[in-house]
Amino acid sequence: MALESQRLAGDVAVVTGAASGLDRGIAMKLALNGAVVACADINDQGNQETVDMIKKAGGEAFPVHVDIADSASVKQAMKYIYDKMGKITILVNGAAYIKFSPIETCTDEEWEKVLKVDLTGYFYCLREVYPYMKASGGGRIVQLSSSSAKSGSSFGGPHYTAAKGGVISLTKYAARRWAKDNIRVNTICPGIADTPLGRHPEAPKGAFEEMLKNIPMGRVAVPEDIAGGVLFLVSDESRYVTGITLDINGGRYVYGN
Ligand SMILES: NC(=O)c1ccc[n+]([C@@H]2O[C@H](COP(=O)([O-])OP(=O)(O)OC[C@H]3O[C@@H](n4cnc5c(N)ncnc54)[C@H](O)[C@@H]3O)[C@@H](O)[C@H]2O)c1
Repeated sequence: MALESQRLAGDVAVVTGAASGLDRGIAMKLALNGAVVACADINDQGNQETVDMIKKAGGEAFPVHVDIADSASVKQAMKYIYDKMGKITILVNGAAYIKFSPIETCTDEEWEKVLKVDLTGYFYCLREVYPYMKASGGGRIVQLSSSSAKSGSSFGGPHYTAAKGGVISLTKYAARRWAKDNIRVNTICPGIADTPLGRHPEAPKGAFEEMLKNIPMGRVAVPEDIAGGVLFLVSDESRYVTGITLDINGGRYVYGN
């Protein structure tokens, strides 16, 4: 496969969650447009598969082990990438952990574990990438929230839903604060997608099919759909865009489910 473009030539992109699903598709898209991609995930095997897929397609990538819920691990990963490449100019925060327990029975442990990955982990990644991005002359950050953040969610539980809402606020905070450093920060809210998370065996029975019914375009998202939005938000075409939330959901504008 030939590269699609060189619009990200010279960029070094960190993609968390790259071992699977949407983030794998995003890593591929950034590499196919000229970025060197650091595939950062807790799942080493899946991560290596993504790297191999990117290389096979003619892109450049390397694996980095990270647990985004562990601040020391995030610190070490960002340092490793910066030391290896001499810059970090793109971060996609996409890794996620989902639970479906309803609020009435959600345990302290479940709440804390989900928030630790899906919100605190995003905070760690922002904090630890900032000095490197600043030293690189600026950059672009995209955070993966979810339509759940706006709908109240018939899918993920209260922890996942609240964490995804927090991601949108965290994006706005960072966008406002780091504009002076030439760092743009935006959120994407995907609708339901055909990935291991979207098809999770613990999800409420029939939720996937029910959500599909409410998508005017008549299909769920595939990684390429979300990756296209990420490419726009990290490209120069969006150079005056920061702090926004981009909904990519096949027209599910009425958040009824
Ligand atoms: N799939 C959907 O329907 C959907 C819908 C809306 C939003 N999203 C969001 O899009 C993003 C990607 O979702 P996906 O469907 O590709 O999920 P996925 O489950 O396929 O991939 C998530 C990745 O995150 C990694 N991960 C989990 N915990 C980690 C940790 N502590 N440290 C590092 N990596 C960790 C996993 O190993 C996995 O590779 C997520 O933020 C998700 O919440 C997904």
